[in-house]
Amino acid sequence: MSMPFRVLGIETSCDETAAAVVEPAADGRGGRIMAEALLSQVEEHRPYGGVVPEIAARSHLDHVDSLVIRALGEAGLTVHDIDAVAATGGPGLIGGVIVGVMTAKAIAQVAGKPFIAVNHLEGHALTVRMTAGIDFPYLLLLASGGHCQLLAVEGVGRAKRLGTTIDDAAGEAFDKVAKMLGLGYPGGPAVERAARRGDPRRFRLPRPLLDRPGCDLSFSGLKTAVRQTVEKLPPGPLSEGDIADLCASFQAAVADCLADRCRVAAGIFSARHGRGRPLVVAGGVAANVSLRAALTEVARQADMTFVAPPLALCTDNAAMIAWVGVERLRLGLVDTMDFKPRPRWPLDPDAPKAAGAGGVKA
Ligand code: KG4
Ligand code: ZN
Repeated sequence: MSMPFRVLGIETSCDETAAAVVEPAADGRGGRIMAEALLSQVEEHRPYGGVVPEIAARSHLDHVDSLVIRALGEAGLTVHDIDAVAATGGPGLIGGVIVGVMTAKAIAQVAGKPFIAVNHLEGHALTVRMTAGIDFPYLLLLASGGHCQLLAVEGVGRAKRLGTTIDDAAGEAFDKVAKMLGLGYPGGPAVERAARRGDPRRFRLPRPLLDRPGCDLSFSGLKTAVRQTVEKLPPGPLSEGDIADLCASFQAAVADCLADRCRVAAGIFSARHGRGRPLVVAGGVAANVSLRAALTEVARQADMTFVAPPLALCTDNAAMIAWVGVERLRLGLVDTMDFKPRPRWPLDPDAPKAAGAGGVKA
């Protein structure tokens, strides 16, 4: 196959329809986004306070073709100029994943190009290799709406899970607290905005699992504590000041928990892989500025370098999917037309269940 491995990527696993074209950087380190087109469905789901799978699937179907055409057009390419077509093959809302996979397979068939099914979580996990050109291995905190895990990323398709949430994901906790406080959907950015004006010390919220051994996480007790705190406030609508202080106190508690678990994971990771490796944060929650600050400090203390993707590449996008396509194509890891979309697809299939977990999300 001729260089330079230009890959078209398609993302449709949740509430963003996106297409992008990525190629490796000329100097061989990292990648270059040649074009990206993204359509957020936030306004379509907002009246329901969360993502409605049927609306999401229909909207992906309506828009994916035009986004692919736009991305290729902006890159100045046709389907014949690309080297492979990658699409999120899971995990995610199955209706949307089917739309992306079918679209990618059709383009691949017509253009005679390889098809690559990408694990959405690997998209988040490898983004920093595109944006910062970092080498394996690195320690990763992957914190999004459906997932919250600590992983040792050792190679393409090789991640070892060190810990995971035993109940809610961090982004899910942000979303639920936002809903509770009437801040709407999506919750994370709204809570972060409100927290800027708030006092993180006004409400004493718990830090679940803090100082416990291991790297597992838990957010459900914290969410309940926010609800109980709200119930103890004088009846009537919450004031703007109350909301800001609740958001700031909640965000500080999440950051403390994540920082603590990263500290433990950094010890385990460094014992296995040596000191001085990167600590990476990825997934939608990685867009949170106060969390980034807390993790920067953890990394400094653990003698690691802190690396995070640019804000726009923390939340779902197609460039990260195209990039995994580049990485996999370089290794000859392509898929056949038999690939079936996977609603669940763990990054580390050998990971044991989290302690106390009834059922851990993929
Ligand atoms: O990775 P992502 O875009 O989608 C999933 O794969 O889940 O992550 C979305 C999650 C949502 O729960 C959203 O509330 C959260 O990331 N999020 C944030 C911020 N921006 C997005 N959480 C905290 N602070 C933010 N700035
Ligand atoms: Zn995601």
